[in-house]
Amino acid sequence: MILVIHGPNLNLLGMREPDVYGVKTLDDINQCLRELASGNNIELKIVQSNSEGKIIDIIHQSLEQNIEAIIINPGAFTHYSIAIRDALAAIEVPILEVHLSNIYKREEFRHKSVIAPVVTGQISGFGVDSYTLALEQAIRLIE
Ligand code: DQA
Repeated sequence: MILVIHGPNLNLLGMREPDVYGVKTLDDINQCLRELASGNNIELKIVQSNSEGKIIDIIHQSLEQNIEAIIINPGAFTHYSIAIRDALAAIEVPILEVHLSNIYKREEFRHKSVIAPVVTGQISGFGVDSYTLALEQAIRLIE
């Protein structure tokens, strides 16, 4: 099973800064991921939270579940949450960090990801395709 974690404000996709994040909703993205996963006989667990503590709890719980890879868009936590970074550092399965926008092309405060040093790889800047590329790669990594 692959765990997909959507961080803060991603529940507002579709109406949130569409020029930056596109017009697809989180449900559209999840639908797309579910289709890709089922076509590959992979189970997906998808969660969204606006709370740092909740995201950390979800990461911890993955240790007791049959999670083979984690795809995470930590939203703004990307840039400052040492607590989420530490939680991810405890995980042994592949971790794919995803961003819809290219964080290196935006405001300077978004150029730093405190998460990046503890993940397997990062995909940033391809909109919804960032997620599908991450899922394709996660499937490749666990096969
Ligand atoms: C984001 C980029 C972050 O800087 C921002 O805070 C987000 C979304 C992205 O997907 O492009 O909430 O992670």
